[in-house]
Amino acid sequence: MAGTAHLEFDTSDSKVATRIHKMRSSPVRDLFSAATRPDIISLSGGMPDVRLLPKEDVDHAMMAAVADIHDRSVAYQYGPTDGRPETRKVVTHLLRDIGVRAKPQNVVLTTGAQEALDLLAKVFINPGDIILTEGPTYLGALQAFSAYEPEVHAVDMDEDGMRMDLLEEELKRIGKGNPRLKFAYVIPNFQNPSGVTMTPERRRRLIELSHEYDFLIIEDDPYGRIRFDGGHQIPLKALDDQVIYLGTISKIFAPGLRCGWIVAPRHVLSKVLLAKQGADLCGSSMDQAIVQHYFEDVPWQRTLQRFIQTYTIRRDAMLAALEEFFPPEATWTHPEGGLFVWVTLPEYVDTGSMLAEALEAGVTYVPGDSFYPEGRAGKNSMRINFSYESPQNITEAIRRLAEVIEARLELYRVFIEAGAL
Ligand SMILES: Cc1ncc(COP(=O)(O)O)c(C=O)c1O
Repeated sequence: MAGTAHLEFDTSDSKVATRIHKMRSSPVRDLFSAATRPDIISLSGGMPDVRLLPKEDVDHAMMAAVADIHDRSVAYQYGPTDGRPETRKVVTHLLRDIGVRAKPQNVVLTTGAQEALDLLAKVFINPGDIILTEGPTYLGALQAFSAYEPEVHAVDMDEDGMRMDLLEEELKRIGKGNPRLKFAYVIPNFQNPSGVTMTPERRRRLIELSHEYDFLIIEDDPYGRIRFDGGHQIPLKALDDQVIYLGTISKIFAPGLRCGWIVAPRHVLSKVLLAKQGADLCGSSMDQAIVQHYFEDVPWQRTLQRFIQTYTIRRDAMLAALEEFFPPEATWTHPEGGLFVWVTLPEYVDTGSMLAEALEAGVTYVPGDSFYPEGRAGKNSMRINFSYESPQNITEAIRRLAEVIEARLELYRVFIEAGAL
């Protein structure tokens, strides 16, 4: 029945919702298989180095989750949609450490911060609504938002975070009281992908503007505790309780356990809970029990220090190698924490098409346009990660990448001399 097979293919395709056509696959996910090839050094992922977790601590948290007489019936059972109460209490303690005061009823546990992004988009975005992001921004957020068909306005950043002068210009264009304007999504600490941190002045200005122009702020903070240098920065949530704050265990414990959280006023959370019931009824009780025991019973701060010390050495290796091998035409950020460095090349270098040459040379990165809505900018930039590879591998990867870039620049120099560019 060849005809039927053909019909089936056509029919299913024509039934697909229009939103699917606006969704783009993540190049990080696409590069995942290439990145695991033994001859490739991957700078494209965003993985914490979970090999640093002490086996005995993880074993303890897991055993406690399954063995505790009180938990035994709980960890295997459906849980409340807003998450296990004991784990939400643990989250309030983690928040207190960073200056955010929250009650357990203001915390909803999610399946990673990624689910929080999807749920918030589901709650707030109608097709055509306007949302503001940093430019560049986290591509997983762009993926989550795009399903709900908003207009995404990316506001450029510099080394102090999102530029408030540009944001203000954008807001004037959008207009005060515009009902389509919904929220600004920002990652103020060691941003993914740029590694940049927003200054305290800009944090305050963003909050002022949110009141003046009536939009919500979503503060996504997976990296705030992964600080190598400089002092703690006050979270937006600590400056204004209306801010919707997102956290996760992925970078301070393990992303294999899917546990993140939304901290928000109850009137926001009640809508989020409706959306979450339709998505998954509740998060994993087992994961939440393990998280509870990890943060209650074992010296997790010691392990966090281990993450920080290891990443500091790797960041330093990356910055030193960039200095040594990259051409003078390249610039890059100097992150004080997190997982990423952002490299900018001359405007005429297309990092998307250059990736094939990089793969050939045995190194991967993520092309910069993936971090802009519809790939509208960033074509001459790239995100490189330093959290997973050894310092030796990082140095070698940067050396290989420098050769690839140099070959491209050489080609362009010929074009420029010939007046073709
Ligand atoms: C800025 C940002 N938000 C959210 C996430 C998703 O985190 P989770 O593993 O908690 O879903 C990531 C993951 O890399 C991220 O970089």
